[in-house]
Amino acid sequence: MKRISIIDAKNYVGQTVEIGAWVANKRSSGKIAFLELRDGTAYFQGVAVKNEVGEEIFDIAKSLNQETSIILTGEIREDARSHFGYEIGIKTLEVVGSSEDYPITPKEHGTDFLMDHRHLWLRSSKQHAIMQIRNEMIRATYEFFNDNGFIKIDPPILTGSAPEGTTELFETDYFDQKAYLSQSGQLYMEAAAMAFGKVFSFGPTFRAEKSKTRRHLIEFWMIEPEMAFMHQEESLEIQEQYIAYLVQGVLDNCDYALTVLERDKGILERYTQLPYPRISYDDAVELLIKNGFEDIQWGDDFGSPHETFIANSFEKPVFILNYPKQIKPFYMKPHPTREDVVICADLIAPEGYGEIIGGSERETDYDQLLAEIKKFGLSPEEYKWYLDLRKYGSVPHAGFGLGLERAITWVAGIEHIREAIPFPRLINRIYP
Ligand code: 4AD
Ligand code: MG
Repeated sequence: MKRISIIDAKNYVGQTVEIGAWVANKRSSGKIAFLELRDGTAYFQGVAVKNEVGEEIFDIAKSLNQETSIILTGEIREDARSHFGYEIGIKTLEVVGSSEDYPITPKEHGTDFLMDHRHLWLRSSKQHAIMQIRNEMIRATYEFFNDNGFIKIDPPILTGSAPEGTTELFETDYFDQKAYLSQSGQLYMEAAAMAFGKVFSFGPTFRAEKSKTRRHLIEFWMIEPEMAFMHQEESLEIQEQYIAYLVQGVLDNCDYALTVLERDKGILERYTQLPYPRISYDDAVELLIKNGFEDIQWGDDFGSPHETFIANSFEKPVFILNYPKQIKPFYMKPHPTREDVVICADLIAPEGYGEIIGGSERETDYDQLLAEIKKFGLSPEEYKWYLDLRKYGSVPHAGFGLGLERAITWVAGIEHIREAIPFPRLINRIYP
Protein backbone atom coordinates (compact mmCIF):
# COMPACT_ATOMS: atom_id res chain seq x y z
CA MET A 1 0.00 0.00 0.00
CA LYS A 2 1.18 3.48 -0.81
CA ARG A 3 2.34 5.74 2.07
CA ILE A 4 1.31 9.33 1.30
CA SER A 5 1.49 12.80 2.85
CA ILE A 6 -1.75 14.54 3.76
CA ILE A 7 -0.98 17.42 1.40
CA ASP A 8 -1.12 14.95 -1.54
CA ALA A 9 -4.52 13.48 -0.58
CA LYS A 10 -6.18 15.12 -3.60
CA ASN A 11 -4.28 12.79 -5.92
CA TYR A 12 -5.61 9.64 -4.20
CA VAL A 13 -9.39 10.08 -4.02
CA GLY A 14 -11.07 6.66 -3.94
CA GLN A 15 -7.80 4.85 -3.15
CA THR A 16 -6.74 3.15 0.05
CA VAL A 17 -3.47 4.56 1.40
CA GLU A 18 -1.29 4.62 4.50
CA ILE A 19 -0.49 7.79 6.47
CA GLY A 20 1.77 8.51 9.46
CA ALA A 21 0.30 11.33 11.56
CA TRP A 22 -0.24 12.90 14.96
CA VAL A 23 -3.64 13.40 16.55
CA ALA A 24 -4.16 17.16 16.87
CA ASN A 25 -7.68 16.90 18.26
CA LYS A 26 -10.55 14.42 18.54
CA ARG A 27 -14.36 14.21 18.91
CA SER A 28 -16.35 11.04 19.24
CA SER A 29 -19.80 9.71 19.87
CA GLY A 30 -20.91 6.11 20.53
CA LYS A 31 -20.54 5.09 16.88
CA ILE A 32 -18.19 7.47 15.16
CA ALA A 33 -14.87 9.13 15.98
CA PHE A 34 -13.45 12.20 14.20
CA LEU A 35 -9.69 12.61 14.46
CA GLU A 36 -8.02 15.85 13.42
CA LEU A 37 -4.75 14.62 11.93
CA ARG A 38 -1.55 16.42 11.07
CA ASP A 39 1.63 15.10 9.49
CA GLY A 40 3.59 18.33 9.05
CA THR A 41 2.38 18.87 5.49
CA ALA A 42 -1.27 19.70 6.28
CA TYR A 43 -4.23 18.99 8.55
CA PHE A 44 -7.27 16.88 7.69
CA GLN A 45 -9.89 14.71 9.26
CA GLY A 46 -9.89 10.98 9.82
CA VAL A 47 -13.25 9.30 10.37
CA ALA A 48 -13.55 5.97 12.20
CA VAL A 49 -17.01 4.33 12.11
CA LYS A 50 -17.51 1.56 14.68
CA ASN A 51 -19.44 -0.77 12.31
CA GLU A 52 -16.67 -0.50 9.72
CA VAL A 53 -13.46 -0.75 11.75
CA GLY A 54 -14.69 -3.12 14.45
CA GLU A 55 -14.77 -2.66 18.21
CA GLU A 56 -11.05 -2.99 18.91
CA ILE A 57 -9.86 -0.29 16.50
CA PHE A 58 -12.79 1.94 17.37
CA ASP A 59 -11.86 1.80 21.06
CA ILE A 60 -8.27 2.78 20.25
CA ALA A 61 -9.46 5.67 18.05
CA LYS A 62 -11.82 6.89 20.77
CA SER A 63 -9.12 6.87 23.46
CA LEU A 64 -6.28 8.58 21.52
CA ASN A 65 -4.71 11.48 23.41
CA GLN A 66 -3.67 14.72 21.76
CA GLU A 67 -0.30 14.34 19.93
CA THR A 68 -0.28 10.54 19.96
CA SER A 69 1.51 9.41 16.81
CA ILE A 70 -0.27 6.80 14.71
CA ILE A 71 -0.08 4.94 11.43
CA LEU A 72 -3.43 4.52 9.76
CA THR A 73 -4.80 3.14 6.54
CA GLY A 74 -8.02 4.13 4.86
CA GLU A 75 -9.75 5.51 1.81
CA ILE A 76 -9.33 9.14 0.71
CA ARG A 77 -12.66 10.90 0.11
CA GLU A 78 -13.70 14.37 -0.84
CA ASP A 79 -14.90 16.42 2.12
CA ALA A 80 -16.69 19.51 0.88
CA ARG A 81 -17.26 20.87 4.43
CA SER A 82 -13.59 21.43 5.26
CA HIS A 83 -11.35 24.05 3.66
CA PHE A 84 -8.82 21.33 2.90
CA GLY A 85 -11.42 19.46 0.84
CA TYR A 86 -10.48 15.82 1.67
CA GLU A 87 -10.67 13.32 4.54
CA ILE A 88 -9.75 9.72 5.19
CA GLY A 89 -12.20 6.95 6.04
CA ILE A 90 -10.14 4.92 8.53
CA LYS A 91 -9.76 1.15 8.04
CA THR A 92 -6.87 0.26 10.36
CA LEU A 93 -5.01 2.20 13.00
CA GLU A 94 -1.90 1.53 15.04
CA VAL A 95 -0.32 3.62 17.81
CA VAL A 96 3.39 4.44 17.26
CA GLY A 97 4.15 6.72 20.22
CA SER A 98 1.84 7.54 23.12
CA SER A 99 1.33 11.05 24.47
CA GLU A 100 0.29 11.85 28.01
CA ASP A 101 -0.84 15.30 29.19
CA TYR A 102 0.30 17.29 26.16
CA PRO A 103 0.80 20.77 27.61
CA ILE A 104 -0.69 22.83 24.76
CA THR A 105 -4.40 22.08 24.79
CA PRO A 106 -6.98 23.59 22.42
CA LYS A 107 -7.79 26.24 25.07
CA GLU A 108 -6.05 29.65 25.09
CA HIS A 109 -2.55 29.86 26.59
CA GLY A 110 -0.48 32.89 27.58
CA THR A 111 2.47 33.97 25.45
CA ASP A 112 5.12 33.11 28.04
CA PHE A 113 3.75 29.61 28.39
CA LEU A 114 3.70 29.14 24.62
CA MET A 115 7.23 30.54 24.28
CA ASP A 116 8.48 28.13 26.98
CA HIS A 117 6.97 25.35 24.86
CA ARG A 118 8.11 26.68 21.50
CA HIS A 119 9.42 23.21 20.59
CA LEU A 120 5.83 21.93 20.80
CA TRP A 121 4.01 25.15 19.86
CA LEU A 122 5.52 24.80 16.36
CA ARG A 123 3.06 21.94 15.80
CA SER A 124 -0.02 24.16 15.98
CA SER A 125 -1.84 25.18 12.82
CA LYS A 126 -1.04 28.90 13.02
CA GLN A 127 2.69 28.28 13.51
CA HIS A 128 2.59 25.71 10.76
CA ALA A 129 1.05 28.30 8.41
CA ILE A 130 3.69 30.92 9.28
CA MET A 131 6.55 28.48 8.64
CA GLN A 132 5.00 27.58 5.26
CA ILE A 133 5.12 31.27 4.37
CA ARG A 134 8.70 31.54 5.64
CA ASN A 135 9.70 28.60 3.49
CA GLU A 136 8.01 30.08 0.42
CA MET A 137 9.75 33.43 0.89
CA ILE A 138 13.13 31.69 1.14
CA ARG A 139 12.36 29.60 -1.95
CA ALA A 140 11.21 32.66 -3.92
CA THR A 141 14.34 34.57 -2.83
CA TYR A 142 16.68 32.00 -4.37
CA GLU A 143 14.52 31.85 -7.49
CA PHE A 144 14.34 35.62 -7.92
CA PHE A 145 18.04 36.25 -7.58
CA ASN A 146 19.11 33.26 -9.63
CA ASP A 147 16.69 34.24 -12.41
CA ASN A 148 18.15 37.75 -12.39
CA GLY A 149 21.79 36.76 -12.77
CA PHE A 150 22.88 36.94 -9.13
CA ILE A 151 25.18 34.39 -7.53
CA LYS A 152 24.82 33.38 -3.89
CA ILE A 153 27.89 34.13 -1.80
CA ASP A 154 28.16 33.32 1.91
CA PRO A 155 29.84 35.93 4.09
CA PRO A 156 31.47 34.80 7.36
CA ILE A 157 29.56 34.77 10.65
CA LEU A 158 32.61 35.32 12.84
CA THR A 159 34.04 38.69 11.91
CA GLY A 160 36.62 41.20 13.00
CA SER A 161 34.78 44.38 11.97
CA ALA A 162 31.45 46.11 12.50
CA PRO A 163 29.53 47.50 9.52
CA GLU A 164 26.48 48.83 11.39
CA GLY A 165 28.12 50.46 14.42
CA THR A 166 29.88 48.99 17.41
CA THR A 167 27.24 49.19 20.16
CA GLU A 168 25.24 46.11 19.20
CA LEU A 169 28.03 43.57 18.79
CA PHE A 170 28.24 40.14 20.38
CA GLU A 171 31.84 39.62 21.29
CA THR A 172 33.52 36.24 21.65
CA ASP A 173 37.02 34.91 22.16
CA TYR A 174 38.81 33.91 18.99
CA PHE A 175 41.94 32.16 20.28
CA ASP A 176 44.08 35.11 21.41
CA GLN A 177 41.99 37.69 19.56
CA LYS A 178 38.46 39.04 19.79
CA ALA A 179 35.78 38.21 17.23
CA TYR A 180 32.22 39.39 16.75
CA LEU A 181 29.08 37.67 15.52
CA SER A 182 28.16 39.24 12.19
CA GLN A 183 25.56 42.01 12.31
CA SER A 184 25.57 42.28 8.49
CA GLY A 185 27.54 40.58 5.74
CA GLN A 186 27.58 43.73 3.65
CA LEU A 187 31.27 44.60 3.62
CA TYR A 188 32.13 41.07 2.49
CA MET A 189 29.35 41.22 -0.10
CA GLU A 190 30.97 44.36 -1.51
CA ALA A 191 34.18 42.39 -1.98
CA ALA A 192 32.11 39.61 -3.58
CA ALA A 193 30.38 42.07 -5.95
CA MET A 194 33.81 43.20 -7.18
CA ALA A 195 34.63 39.54 -7.84
CA PHE A 196 31.31 38.29 -9.26
CA GLY A 197 29.22 41.32 -10.32
CA LYS A 198 25.80 40.65 -8.81
CA VAL A 199 25.68 38.68 -5.57
CA PHE A 200 23.29 37.90 -2.74
CA SER A 201 23.65 36.35 0.67
CA PHE A 202 21.18 34.70 3.00
CA GLY A 203 22.23 33.98 6.55
CA PRO A 204 21.85 34.68 10.25
CA THR A 205 22.87 38.03 11.71
CA PHE A 206 23.13 39.06 15.33
CA ARG A 207 22.43 42.29 17.17
CA ALA A 208 22.73 42.77 20.91
CA GLU A 209 19.90 45.30 20.75
CA LYS A 210 18.35 46.24 24.04
CA SER A 211 15.05 46.96 22.26
CA LYS A 212 12.16 44.84 23.47
CA THR A 213 9.67 45.46 20.69
CA ARG A 214 7.47 43.36 18.43
CA ARG A 215 9.87 44.10 15.55
CA HIS A 216 13.25 43.15 17.05
CA LEU A 217 15.03 39.84 17.29
CA ILE A 218 18.55 39.29 18.63
CA GLU A 219 19.24 36.70 15.94
CA PHE A 220 17.56 37.27 12.58
CA TRP A 221 18.09 36.19 8.99
CA MET A 222 19.03 38.70 6.36
CA ILE A 223 19.13 38.65 2.56
CA GLU A 224 21.87 41.01 1.32
CA PRO A 225 22.21 41.63 -2.41
CA GLU A 226 25.11 43.76 -3.69
CA MET A 227 25.53 44.93 -7.30
CA ALA A 228 28.63 46.27 -9.08
CA PHE A 229 28.27 48.98 -11.73
CA MET A 230 24.97 50.04 -10.23
CA HIS A 231 23.53 53.25 -8.81
CA GLN A 232 20.82 53.61 -6.20
CA GLU A 233 17.90 54.21 -8.64
CA GLU A 234 18.42 50.84 -10.27
CA SER A 235 18.86 49.17 -6.88
CA LEU A 236 15.47 50.56 -5.78
CA GLU A 237 13.86 48.98 -8.85
CA ILE A 238 15.37 45.61 -7.98
CA GLN A 239 14.19 46.00 -4.38
CA GLU A 240 10.57 46.63 -5.33
CA GLN A 241 10.58 43.84 -7.93
CA TYR A 242 11.98 41.46 -5.32
CA ILE A 243 9.36 42.37 -2.70
CA ALA A 244 6.53 42.06 -5.23
CA TYR A 245 7.95 38.67 -6.24
CA LEU A 246 7.93 37.46 -2.63
CA VAL A 247 4.33 38.56 -2.11
CA GLN A 248 3.27 36.95 -5.40
CA GLY A 249 5.01 33.71 -4.44
CA VAL A 250 3.09 33.59 -1.17
CA LEU A 251 -0.20 34.33 -2.98
CA ASP A 252 0.49 31.59 -5.53
CA ASN A 253 1.81 28.90 -3.21
CA CYS A 254 0.48 29.55 0.32
CA ASP A 255 -3.27 29.86 -0.16
CA TYR A 256 -4.05 27.43 2.67
CA ALA A 257 -1.63 29.16 5.07
CA LEU A 258 -3.11 32.59 4.27
CA THR A 259 -6.58 31.21 4.98
CA VAL A 260 -5.47 29.75 8.33
CA LEU A 261 -3.96 33.14 9.22
CA GLU A 262 -7.07 34.99 7.95
CA ARG A 263 -4.80 37.22 5.89
CA ASP A 264 -6.64 39.46 3.40
CA LYS A 265 -5.43 38.32 -0.04
CA GLY A 266 -6.82 41.43 -1.73
CA ILE A 267 -4.43 43.59 0.31
CA LEU A 268 -1.49 41.38 -0.66
CA GLU A 269 -2.51 41.64 -4.34
CA ARG A 270 -2.15 45.39 -4.04
CA TYR A 271 1.45 45.02 -2.84
CA THR A 272 2.39 43.23 -6.09
CA GLN A 273 1.57 46.37 -8.10
CA LEU A 274 4.68 48.41 -8.98
CA PRO A 275 6.18 50.92 -8.59
CA TYR A 276 6.18 51.67 -4.87
CA PRO A 277 6.04 55.35 -3.90
CA ARG A 278 9.24 57.22 -3.02
CA ILE A 279 9.42 60.12 -0.59
CA SER A 280 12.49 62.02 0.59
CA TYR A 281 13.50 62.06 4.26
CA ASP A 282 13.00 65.86 4.17
CA ASP A 283 9.41 65.47 2.97
CA ALA A 284 8.73 62.69 5.46
CA VAL A 285 9.80 64.96 8.34
CA GLU A 286 7.63 67.75 6.97
CA LEU A 287 4.66 65.38 6.66
CA LEU A 288 5.06 64.37 10.30
CA ILE A 289 5.40 67.92 11.60
CA LYS A 290 2.38 69.05 9.55
CA ASN A 291 0.38 66.28 11.17
CA GLY A 292 1.13 67.26 14.72
CA PHE A 293 4.21 65.20 15.61
CA GLU A 294 6.07 67.50 17.99
CA ASP A 295 8.78 64.99 18.95
CA ILE A 296 10.57 65.00 15.60
CA GLN A 297 12.89 67.45 13.88
CA TRP A 298 15.21 67.28 10.89
CA GLY A 299 18.17 65.06 11.77
CA ASP A 300 16.30 62.62 14.02
CA ASP A 301 15.86 58.98 13.19
CA PHE A 302 12.27 57.77 12.90
CA GLY A 303 10.67 55.73 15.65
CA SER A 304 7.95 53.23 15.10
CA PRO A 305 5.00 55.72 15.47
CA HIS A 306 6.62 57.90 12.80
CA GLU A 307 7.17 55.01 10.40
CA THR A 308 3.61 53.83 10.93
CA PHE A 309 2.19 57.29 10.20
CA ILE A 310 4.25 57.65 7.03
CA ALA A 311 3.30 54.13 5.88
CA ASN A 312 -0.39 54.83 6.49
CA SER A 313 -0.17 57.80 4.15
CA PHE A 314 0.41 55.36 1.26
CA GLU A 315 -1.35 52.25 -0.07
CA LYS A 316 1.83 50.26 -0.65
CA PRO A 317 5.32 49.90 0.82
CA VAL A 318 7.09 53.27 0.62
CA PHE A 319 10.76 54.13 0.12
CA ILE A 320 12.11 56.94 2.29
CA LEU A 321 15.15 58.37 0.49
CA ASN A 322 18.32 60.15 1.54
CA TYR A 323 18.55 60.26 5.33
CA PRO A 324 20.84 62.63 7.23
CA LYS A 325 24.45 61.54 7.18
CA GLN A 326 24.65 61.79 10.97
CA ILE A 327 22.26 58.85 11.57
CA LYS A 328 23.62 56.44 8.93
CA PRO A 329 26.76 54.24 8.80
CA PHE A 330 30.18 55.30 7.49
CA TYR A 331 30.09 53.49 4.14
CA MET A 332 27.19 55.36 2.50
CA LYS A 333 27.90 57.61 -0.48
CA PRO A 334 27.23 61.30 0.10
CA HIS A 335 24.57 63.03 -1.98
CA PRO A 336 26.14 64.77 -5.00
CA THR A 337 24.62 68.19 -4.28
CA ARG A 338 23.91 68.07 -0.54
CA GLU A 339 26.48 67.69 2.21
CA ASP A 340 24.00 66.76 4.92
CA VAL A 341 22.37 63.63 3.39
CA VAL A 342 23.53 60.30 1.95
CA ILE A 343 22.27 58.21 -0.99
CA CYS A 344 20.22 55.61 0.82
CA ALA A 345 16.69 54.35 1.28
CA ASP A 346 14.67 52.42 3.82
CA LEU A 347 11.61 50.54 2.62
CA ILE A 348 8.75 50.89 5.09
CA ALA A 349 6.06 48.20 5.04
CA PRO A 350 2.38 49.15 5.22
CA GLU A 351 0.04 48.40 8.14
CA GLY A 352 2.51 49.42 10.83
CA TYR A 353 5.16 46.74 10.23
CA GLY A 354 8.04 49.21 9.99
CA GLU A 355 11.32 49.08 8.08
CA ILE A 356 11.83 45.88 6.11
CA ILE A 357 14.77 46.96 3.91
CA GLY A 358 17.76 49.20 4.53
CA GLY A 359 20.06 49.94 1.60
CA SER A 360 22.35 52.48 -0.02
CA GLU A 361 24.87 53.37 -2.67
CA ARG A 362 28.39 52.88 -1.29
CA GLU A 363 31.31 55.29 -1.08
CA THR A 364 33.70 54.45 -3.93
CA ASP A 365 36.56 56.87 -3.28
CA TYR A 366 39.54 55.64 -1.23
CA ASP A 367 40.38 58.92 0.49
CA GLN A 368 36.76 59.78 1.32
CA LEU A 369 36.15 56.32 2.76
CA LEU A 370 39.32 56.44 4.83
CA ALA A 371 38.30 59.83 6.21
CA GLU A 372 34.85 58.48 7.17
CA ILE A 373 36.34 55.43 8.88
CA LYS A 374 38.50 57.73 10.99
CA LYS A 375 35.59 60.09 11.69
CA PHE A 376 33.51 57.17 13.01
CA GLY A 377 36.34 56.26 15.38
CA LEU A 378 37.03 52.96 13.59
CA SER A 379 40.50 51.54 13.02
CA PRO A 380 41.80 51.94 9.43
CA GLU A 381 44.01 48.91 10.09
CA GLU A 382 40.97 46.63 10.59
CA TYR A 383 39.32 47.99 7.45
CA LYS A 384 42.43 47.77 5.29
CA TRP A 385 40.97 44.92 3.23
CA TYR A 386 37.73 46.87 2.71
CA LEU A 387 39.68 49.95 1.63
CA ASP A 388 41.55 47.78 -0.90
CA LEU A 389 38.27 47.44 -2.83
CA ARG A 390 38.62 51.18 -3.61
CA LYS A 391 42.23 50.80 -4.69
CA TYR A 392 41.86 48.17 -7.40
CA GLY A 393 39.19 49.06 -9.93
CA SER A 394 36.64 50.79 -7.73
CA VAL A 395 33.18 51.05 -9.35
CA PRO A 396 29.80 52.51 -8.41
CA HIS A 397 27.90 49.89 -6.45
CA ALA A 398 24.79 49.59 -4.33
CA GLY A 399 23.10 47.01 -2.18
CA PHE A 400 20.50 46.40 0.47
CA GLY A 401 19.46 44.12 3.30
CA LEU A 402 16.02 42.60 3.79
CA GLY A 403 15.17 41.38 7.29
CA LEU A 404 13.46 38.07 6.54
CA GLU A 405 11.43 37.90 9.76
CA ARG A 406 10.24 41.51 9.42
CA ALA A 407 9.02 40.69 5.91
CA ILE A 408 7.32 37.47 7.07
CA THR A 409 5.57 39.26 9.94
CA TRP A 410 4.17 41.74 7.45
CA VAL A 411 3.18 39.31 4.68
CA ALA A 412 1.63 36.85 7.13
CA GLY A 413 -0.11 39.72 8.92
CA ILE A 414 0.91 38.52 12.39
CA GLU A 415 1.28 40.61 15.52
CA HIS A 416 4.82 39.82 16.69
CA ILE A 417 8.13 38.98 14.99
CA ARG A 418 8.85 36.17 17.51
CA GLU A 419 6.44 33.91 15.60
CA ALA A 420 8.23 34.46 12.26
CA ILE A 421 11.29 32.36 13.23
CA PRO A 422 11.25 28.77 14.53
CA PHE A 423 13.26 29.42 17.71
CA PRO A 424 13.34 33.16 18.47
CA ARG A 425 16.25 34.71 20.36
CA LEU A 426 14.94 37.68 22.34
CA ILE A 427 16.50 39.97 24.89
CA ASN A 428 15.11 37.87 27.76
CA ARG A 429 15.00 34.45 26.09
CA ILE A 430 17.41 31.84 24.75
CA TYR A 431 15.30 28.79 25.74
CA PRO A 432 14.26 26.48 24.18
O1 4AD B 1 18.98 48.56 8.14
P1 4AD B 1 20.01 47.52 8.51
O2 4AD B 1 20.74 47.69 9.76
O3 4AD B 1 20.99 47.47 7.25
C1 4AD B 1 22.14 46.73 7.16
O4 4AD B 1 22.52 45.93 7.97
C2 4AD B 1 22.86 46.91 5.85
N1 4AD B 1 24.26 46.56 6.06
C3 4AD B 1 22.21 46.06 4.78
C4 4AD B 1 22.87 46.19 3.45
O5 4AD B 1 22.84 47.25 2.85
N2 4AD B 1 23.47 45.13 2.97
O6 4AD B 1 19.31 46.10 8.52
C5 4AD B 1 18.66 45.61 7.37
C6 4AD B 1 17.30 45.05 7.72
C7 4AD B 1 16.33 46.06 8.33
O7 4AD B 1 15.68 46.82 7.34
C8 4AD B 1 15.36 45.15 9.04
O8 4AD B 1 14.42 44.59 8.14
C9 4AD B 1 16.26 44.03 9.51
O9 4AD B 1 17.42 44.06 8.73
N3 4AD B 1 16.61 44.15 10.93
C10 4AD B 1 16.10 43.40 11.93
N4 4AD B 1 15.18 42.41 11.91
C11 4AD B 1 14.88 41.84 13.08
N5 4AD B 1 15.43 42.16 14.25
C12 4AD B 1 16.37 43.16 14.34
N6 4AD B 1 16.92 43.44 15.50
C13 4AD B 1 16.73 43.82 13.12
N7 4AD B 1 17.61 44.81 12.82
C14 4AD B 1 17.53 44.99 11.48
MG1 MG C 1 18.10 50.22 8.92
